[in-house]
Amino acid sequence: MTVRVRKAIFPVGGLGTRFLPATKSMPKEMLSVVDKPLIQYAVEEARAAGIEQFIFVTGRGKAAIEDHFDYSFELEHTLASRGRKEALASVREWVPEPGQMAYLRQQEPLGLGHAVWCARNYAGGEPVAVLLADDLILSRKPCLAQMIDAHARIGGNIVATMEVPHAHTSRYGVIATDHKGPVNEGDVVPVLGLVEKPSPDKAPSNLAVIGRYILVPEIFDELERKERGADGEIQLTDAMARLIGHHPFHALRFEGRRFDCGDKLGFLEANLAFALARDDLAAAWREVLRGYTA
Ligand code: G1P
Repeated sequence: MTVRVRKAIFPVGGLGTRFLPATKSMPKEMLSVVDKPLIQYAVEEARAAGIEQFIFVTGRGKAAIEDHFDYSFELEHTLASRGRKEALASVREWVPEPGQMAYLRQQEPLGLGHAVWCARNYAGGEPVAVLLADDLILSRKPCLAQMIDAHARIGGNIVATMEVPHAHTSRYGVIATDHKGPVNEGDVVPVLGLVEKPSPDKAPSNLAVIGRYILVPEIFDELERKERGADGEIQLTDAMARLIGHHPFHALRFEGRRFDCGDKLGFLEANLAFALARDDLAAAWREVLRGYTA
């Protein structure tokens, strides 16, 4: 029997320099795709996968995230008094229960591994999910739910993966595997090695790790070593690599499409795709797009 995954860590301390000036006084996780902030997509995905505790690793200037997941009595009162039921639901329905969210600060930006390590005292010896809000996934079943199903079957560590162009391996954590042939949606492949941001000539494959992880509690012992890796940062990838051989380690080629919302083009494309996926917008949006492609 595998232990159910109840906790999720959201590293949200990053500076978002690629989106300046938008992120000068607003966290990058609050950037909206269509009408919803990236961090809300991530939290809704986690909730839909059965997560009960939401641990945000924040930094300076990130208060808007806490406010977003708080009740907004004044706004709710105004909407209620005007009979705006739909608008009211849109500000309250997805907010987790009181006590389900915890916020802690990563005082210095020492890397993703360090951010996850900051949450160690909240993990309580259980497996944890980690979600990077920059990676937005459009799928029939939420990506983390797909991973949790796989975890219930095989346990251990599971990362989300997809094939990327060889020339792009230096943007990702990259997997070494003995899996032969193409990797299809739904496939689970064994992870035999992990390298953070290898140049194309050093990459063991073109299978990239996408920002969704389910990790055994021992990850925190590995992170405790605080070894510096690529870019001089404490890398989650390096700590994960040290678990290989000691704990089962698999990568799931999730069903769905991933958008890199840490990148301007990826973010723009996400807006395009998510609008097309919305019943209330698709037809009108297609019409708008036709004006640009004609
Ligand atoms: C992080 C991880 C990397 C992973 C990527 C997915 O990199 O370090 O292993 O492939 O997220 O988006 P970052 O994008 O924060 O540089």
